[in-house]
Amino acid sequence: MACTKCHGDGYDEHPHEADAKDSLSECQDCHARKAMRIERQFDKSVHAENLSETFTCVTCHDAHSMTLAAKLRDPHKIVAQDNKICLDCHDSDLAFAKMAPDKKKRPPIDDIHDWLPNTRLHWKAVRCIECHTPTEDKLSLSHEIQNKDKAEKKCATCHSANSSLNARLYRHLATEEQNKYGFLNSVILSNSYVVGATRSPTLDMILIGLFVATLAGVIGHGLVRVIMTRLRRSKNHD
Ligand code: HEC
Ligand code: HEC
Ligand code: HEC
Ligand code: HEC
Ligand code: HEC
Ligand code: HEC
Repeated sequence: MACTKCHGDGYDEHPHEADAKDSLSECQDCHARKAMRIERQFDKSVHAENLSETFTCVTCHDAHSMTLAAKLRDPHKIVAQDNKICLDCHDSDLAFAKMAPDKKKRPPIDDIHDWLPNTRLHWKAVRCIECHTPTEDKLSLSHEIQNKDKAEKKCATCHSANSSLNARLYRHLATEEQNKYGFLNSVILSNSYVVGATRSPTLDMILIGLFVATLAGVIGHGLVRVIMTRLRRSKNHD
């Protein structure tokens, strides 16, 4: 797409027209239908409700570099692109202060989430929006970033057999990987194994087998010790 499609004809010639900057197209101008759905969700978000009019689509999106999740496919790349948006502001005092109302201090992102083990690993493996947008609609991600009281805190939402990540972060991979390996959760097993989210009966059996073997080992060891002590005691009595 020509730069001037968005930046206006004022940039066609050099030197540019004095008012060239004023004619920047908005996302809505070309993506009317999609933008309408997204705008409705965004208008209900904490950012639209609590912050000034200066918080818009381009606060988060760089029109020059944005790539659709469906095209990135690799969960780690999707997470990197999407979390950069949030972290660039929520992990930077400078950027946050520019946007925050009444000199509100930035809550340090790791302290807020100290109930989550290894937060920095989670920031690399899972998106902020996974927990901060409504989870009812499993098929599309909403732009409605909700108040912190509504954020997801249950580990099992992701770390379970029907992990919500299947319908969200991993959705662009699921069908292809399913054909390739024959079961849905191979994505999780190969790329980013989520503890507890295996749906492979074989793997489950192996894990259960290991568990039983460990348990048997512990009980066996305990029994032998008890018997040995008894034997030693009865010897001492003699
Ligand atoms: C899809 C629309 C779109 C296209 C195509 C596009 N831009 Fe932009 N450009 C934007 C938006 C949106 C902004 C950000 C405005 C803002 O931050 O308020 C921007 C900002 C800029 C800026 C200012 C950057 C800054 O940091 O202030 C420059 C320079 C620029 N674009 C150059 C280009 C050039 C050169 C091209 C072609 C190679 C191009 N743009 C193509 C939408 C576009
Ligand atoms: C001047 C018109 C124009 C503007 C303004 C514009 N876009 Fe686009 N956008 C396009 C075109 C054309 C495509 C390519 C569509 C395709 O590949 O089928 C596109 C593609 C996209 C895609 C990828 C779609 C896909 O299927 O790969 C996204 C996401 C996107 N735009 C978001 C935005 C956002 C966010 C803004 C505002 C910051 C914006 N666009 C502004 C014209 C525009
Ligand atoms: C708080 C930051 C934020 C704001 C503000 C924001 N977005 Fe997004 N947007 C995101 C994130 C994160 C994703 C990635 C989610 C995904 O891949 O589905 C995304 C995805 C998208 C997509 C691609 C996915 C889809 O549903 O097609 C489009 C198009 C888009 N945004 C347009 C917009 C428009 C238009 C606005 C303004 C009304 C806007 N965004 C405002 C963060 C934001
Ligand atoms: C340019 C800066 C900026 C970006 C980008 C941004 N935020 Fe925010 N966000 C803020 C500010 C400032 C507030 C504080 C609003 C308030 O206190 O009223 C806030 C508030 C929030 C809250 C509400 C906290 C509460 O008190 O309930 C959540 C959740 C949140 N952001 C998550 C995100 C997520 C997720 C993203 C990325 C998709 C993101 N933010 C992107 C600046 C930003
Ligand atoms: C595993 C789910 C999860 C993930 C992932 C997650 N959050 Fe949160 N977040 C929460 C929960 C739950 C709370 C509320 C915590 C509380 O009240 O004790 C919260 C609170 C917040 C707040 C409110 C801070 C305050 O006290 O004012 C902000 C801002 C925020 N998160 C931003 C982010 C950003 C940015 C990311 C991505 C880097 C992110 N979160 C990733 C679940 C998550
Ligand atoms: C939004 C989804 C999501 C939620 C909610 C979530 N996790 Fe995770 N967690 C992940 C993903 C994805 C990974 C990365 C797996 C990998 O790459 O190895 C992970 C990794 C982990 C790891 C492995 C860390 C390491 O050092 O290897 C532990 C432990 C963990 N999570 C515990 C928890 C606990 C406890 C909770 C609840 C308080 C929780 N998680 C909530 C998605 C989530």
